[in-house]
Amino acid sequence: MFTVSSLTKSWTHLRVLDDVSLTGAEGTVTALVGPSGSGKSTLLRCLNGLETFDAGEITIAGHRLAAGPHAPGLLERLRRDVGMVFQQFNLFAHLSTVDNVALAPRVVLGLSAAESRARGLELLDRVGLRAFANARPATLSGGQQQRVAIARALAMRPRVMLFDEPTSALDPEMTAEVMGVIVELARAGQTMVVVTHDHGFARRAASRVVELAAGRVVRQGLAADVL
Ligand SMILES: Nc1ncnc2c1ncn2[C@@H]1O[C@H](COP(=O)(O)OP(=O)(O)OP(=O)(O)O)[C@@H](O)[C@H]1O
Ligand SMILES: [Mg+2]
Repeated sequence: MFTVSSLTKSWTHLRVLDDVSLTGAEGTVTALVGPSGSGKSTLLRCLNGLETFDAGEITIAGHRLAAGPHAPGLLERLRRDVGMVFQQFNLFAHLSTVDNVALAPRVVLGLSAAESRARGLELLDRVGLRAFANARPATLSGGQQQRVAIARALAMRPRVMLFDEPTSALDPEMTAEVMGVIVELARAGQTMVVVTHDHGFARRAASRVVELAAGRVVRQGLAADVL
């Protein structure tokens, strides 16, 4: 589903990704671990075109990203197939939760209002928040907001989901509910890459683990072997 080949990226003098290579098969979950500053977020952002890179190549969900500026239109196509969930959920504050989830299917995919709302409700149901469909995000807990953010990313039916420390802004009791949703997605065969500091979670949810240190892959393999 994705291949990263010899990816290299520098910020002025600092090489943040150095000859990074990894692959992820369809239906697998890859945990990306490593110390702060090792390049995990940068790698994830490269995978959905939020960052450019200096050398190497990425193929993901049938799209090819090369070094340097991305071709016009490529990112719009890529975003349909690659969903991303961030540490901060950044929901649209003025929209109800169901409208947050239904927005992209309506605007980007051209679904009717009824179709996109139906998809939104179905996804809220999947993350256990059907009863909060008409609530504004600010009235939800952090864990609930993050589950809405996951539903919103799923609304495009992405082939790959990327998560950047999806629970690190949450209290421990809310962490479990968000991780439960991610584990469910893994069971359903969703291809995912999850940046996490939580080795217990990685062991439970991930098939493969890639460990970065100072921009290089220092270990990768089956979760049971690496952790
Ligand atoms: N926009 C930027 N400009 C300059 N340097 C940057 C930029 N973004 C990241 N860096 C640097 O790149 C390196 C890798 O950062 P990155 O955010 O990818 O690390 P990380 O592994 O995600 O860390 P953390 O676990 O703290 O989230 C760090 O040294 C960081 O300071
Ligand atoms: Mg990070």
